[in-house]
Amino acid sequence: MEKELCISKEDIQRRVEALAKEISSDYEGKEPVLIGILNGAVFFFADLMRAIDIPTKMDFVRAASYGSGTESSGRVRLTKDIEIPIEGKPVILVEDIVDSGLTLSYLMEQFARRGAASLKICALIDKLERKEKDVYVDYCGFQIQEGFLVGYGLDCNEEYRHLPEIYRLK
Ligand code: IMP
Ligand code: MG
Repeated sequence: MEKELCISKEDIQRRVEALAKEISSDYEGKEPVLIGILNGAVFFFADLMRAIDIPTKMDFVRAASYGSGTESSGRVRLTKDIEIPIEGKPVILVEDIVDSGLTLSYLMEQFARRGAASLKICALIDKLERKEKDVYVDYCGFQIQEGFLVGYGLDCNEEYRHLPEIYRLK
């Protein structure tokens, strides 16, 4: 498929560092648990966690939203859960991209029930078109109007994840 450059490596790095700085100052003395949403968020998660200069803990979930390709079907389920306890802890969900908002609104509901002391969202990209569920992204790398993006962990049918920058499929 044809693709065009959307976000360069340098721009990703610059925004990741800015988000990390914000999180480091907001959570000073708190040791937040970063929960990455597999698989798309892996590179963002790894870069973000290393750029945050306060201690953090890591865990991961995997959420499937029945369907493949460029459209999600609307129903979400957890196919891998976290393993460390989050009760009483400040939690930050780390996501690659918010599209319909279904995945994050489902996860927010799940984690709110488990007694986290606080629950925030850090997403590399917030897509402004096609929002079905209203999700507030506390820490947002980029706002993108439209299009299907790949690279830096983002895939289209498991392709393109390895690319170091982000492209828009044409
Ligand atoms: P949701 O529609 O907000 O629930 O997003 C579900 C998932 O679809 C996200 O976690 C991404 O992994 C994936 N996704 C949404 N938009 C894109 C895109 O433009 N490129 C690649 N993956 C996407
Ligand atoms: Mg994802």
